[in-house]
Amino acid sequence: MMTYTVMATAPLGLEAVVAREVKQLGYECRVLNGKVIYQTDGLGIARSNLWLRCADRVLIIVGEFVAHTFEELFEQTKTLPWTDLLPQNARFPVEGRSVKSQLSSVPACQSIVKKAIVTSMQERYAQEWLEESGDLYAIEVSILNDVVTLTLDTSGPGLHKRGYRTEMGPAPIKETLAAALVLLSRWQAHRPFADPLCGSGTIAIEAAMIARHVAPGINRGFSAENFAFLPKDSFQLAREEARDALLPQGTQPILASDIDSSAVAMARQHATKAGVFDSITFSVEPIATFFTKLDYGCIVTNPPYGERLSDELTVRQLYKEMGQAARRLPTWSFFIITAHPAFERLFGKQADKNRKLYNGRIECHFYQYLGPLPKREKPVTT
Ligand SMILES: C[S@@+](CC[C@H](N)C(=O)[O-])C[C@H]1O[C@@H](n2cnc3c(N)ncnc32)[C@H](O)[C@@H]1O
Repeated sequence: MMTYTVMATAPLGLEAVVAREVKQLGYECRVLNGKVIYQTDGLGIARSNLWLRCADRVLIIVGEFVAHTFEELFEQTKTLPWTDLLPQNARFPVEGRSVKSQLSSVPACQSIVKKAIVTSMQERYAQEWLEESGDLYAIEVSILNDVVTLTLDTSGPGLHKRGYRTEMGPAPIKETLAAALVLLSRWQAHRPFADPLCGSGTIAIEAAMIARHVAPGINRGFSAENFAFLPKDSFQLAREEARDALLPQGTQPILASDIDSSAVAMARQHATKAGVFDSITFSVEPIATFFTKLDYGCIVTNPPYGERLSDELTVRQLYKEMGQAARRLPTWSFFIITAHPAFERLFGKQADKNRKLYNGRIECHFYQYLGPLPKREKPVTT
C-alpha cells in the first residue's frame, strides 16, 4: 500500500487542536508552525479530508529541498515523481509564497516550478503539448528560509466549506474556528450547550455535529476524489465509515439564540442543511434575559468586538450583560472569543485561562471561565 507524507495546514494557534484530531484518526504526527505532518495512505487522505474539523486543508508533500538559485529550484523540482501523480491531461496551476528566502520573487518561483513539472511530463509522455484539460491537481511552492516545500492539494475548496452555510450573517465565524472553540472548551454531549449570540448558527451547528459524530466533510466533494493515483474506493470507504459513525441525538439540549430574528432564521436554515436541526433549540432572545434551569452547561460564543467606534458603547453594555448572564448561571462554563481589550473588566471577572487566537486576521483572545463539572455517575456494581 502506497503511503504519502501529508500536511494538514492549521490556523496559527490551533496546531495542537489539529494534531489532536489527527491522532484521533490514528496517525502519529509532528507539529510545526501552521502545520501538522504525518504519514498515511489513500484511505487516510480521504478520512483526513472528511473528518478534520479544524484544519484548513490536507496537502501531500511531493518534495522538500534547499534551493538558493532558480537553477537549483528547477533541477530539484524536475527530479520529483510528478508523473506518478499527475496524468497526462492534468490541470496543474502552481501557487506560491516565499518568506525570508533568497528566491523571493513568488511569480518567478511559480513559473520555474511549472516549467520543471512540464518538462518532466513532456519527457515521460513524449508529448510536446500538454492539454491541461483534465482534473485539477493544485500545486503550491512554498519557500521558507531557503527550504522549498512542494505540495499537492487534496482538499480543493478549504475545509471550512462544509456546504451548510448558504447565507452570510453579520461577521460569521469560520466553521473550522467554530469547531476549534468547541473542542478547546472540552464540552461533551452529556452537558448542555449554548451560544446565546449565535448569529448564523455556526458554533451551535459545529457543536451538534461534534456531539453526533457527523463528519464535517460528509456533504461535500474533494479534489483528491479525482486523483487517478489514489485507490478508487478511498473516499467511498471513508464515507461509509462516516455514515456508520453517526450517533443518535443526545439527551442534553444545544441552545442557539440571538437578539436578531433574521440571524436566527438563517441559523435554522443552516442547521437544516447540516442535518442537525433536530439537535438544536432556537430562540430569539437578548442576552440580557438569557437563562436556563439546566446546570453544568457550556457557553461558547463569538460576540461583536466593537471594531467600529460607533459600536463601542453597545459592545461595552453587551459585555456587562454577558457577565450578568454568567452570574445567573453559576454552574456553567463560559468560553468567549473577542478582540476587545477591556473584555474581562466589562464582563466583571478575570478569565481562568485565555489563549491568543486569530479570527481571520484579527488577533483575539479566547477567554475561558471554567465552571464546576457535573459529578460523574458511579458505575453500578453488582
Ligand atoms: C459576531 S456575530 C456572531 C456570528 C456567529 N458566530 C456566526 O457564525 O454567524 C454576533 C451576534 O451577536 C448578536 N447580538 C448582538 N447583541 C446581542 C444581544 N444583546 N443579545 C443577543 N445577541 C446579540 C448579533 O445579532 C450577532 O448575530
